Amino acid sequence: MEAATRAPSIHNTQPWLFRADGDRLQVRTDPFRALATLDPSGRQRVLSCGVAAESAVVALTAAGCATDVEVLPEAGDPDLLATVIVTGGYEPDEEDRVLGQAITARHTERAPFLPRAVPDELVDRLQATAGAFRVWLRPISGVNEEVATVSLLSRAEEIEQGQPEYLAELERWVRTDPAAVDGVPVAAVPGEDPATRPSNWLVRDFVVGSRPAAGPGAAGGHGRRAGGLPAHPGAGLAGDAGAAALPPRARRAPAGAAAAGPPGRRRAPSTNRRPVAEVLAFAG
Ligand SMILES: Cc1cc2nc3c(=O)[nH]c(=O)nc-3n(C[C@H](O)[C@H](O)[C@H](O)COP(=O)(O)O)c2cc1C
Repeated sequence: MEAATRAPSIHNTQPWLFRADGDRLQVRTDPFRALATLDPSGRQRVLSCGVAAESAVVALTAAGCATDVEVLPEAGDPDLLATVIVTGGYEPDEEDRVLGQAITARHTERAPFLPRAVPDELVDRLQATAGAFRVWLRPISGVNEEVATVSLLSRAEEIEQGQPEYLAELERWVRTDPAAVDGVPVAAVPGEDPATRPSNWLVRDFVVGSRPAAGPGAAGGHGRRAGGLPAHPGAGLAGDAGAAALPPRARRAPAGAAAAGPPGRRRAPSTNRRPVAEVLAFAG
């Protein structure tokens, strides 16, 4: 359960509830933790819960349990996203163990990445693994593709920052108290204006509301460095349907994909989670 709750989630909302019943663990989404403005369709909420379900599977596998996953098991109950079922024993190998350990080692990296390409071999392995999960992963390496993607990201950020409801929602989920058990801690987001960073790639500006004023480097792509095109993999879900965000039965990822953060950098502080007792109920 600790592993499942270590899953990443949109704005660290942890929009999940679990119910344990013998050898079954139900993973539900909690609509009270929805982001009405950023995520009106609930897609990112479902993705977050999908990672929680998959993290439970990875942890169980590493602990020597064989598992099965039923996705959307009850047609009339759309908030019940998945049931993870322990079906017996399993002999974990080294890769299973490494993946299990990666759950607590991983974190979201928001610092600029080094200006060097992701090795082809790693991209190939990521693509093969993503494909097994019905997810596509595409390296964005050409100038045209990068320009198109960078301007789409900048435009999206610009549109979002122009919405007072978006800014209010963001502010509700940014935490200044390091002991907060949910939300995004200010210590985990870049202090400087992301638009002024030496990177073509804009990241979400979590503290935009507390900046004095947007300068010439504000969202929109002005003033960013051109040139230097490390390959950035982009990922999407086949069909883009809600159920595709949930884990299929294939569950192996290359060990290299689990490496946290760029090498040689200071690690971002870990982001807290709510205690398991707050999100887990037992049947009966
Ligand atoms: C579906 C989804 C969307 C996310 N979108 C963003 C984003 O746009 N910008 C960002 O900096 N982090 C994003 N995150 C990362 C979350 O903020 C992060 O997982 C959460 O704060 C917990 O921190 P951790 O991943 O370091 O454990 C996203 C995570 C998920 C699961």
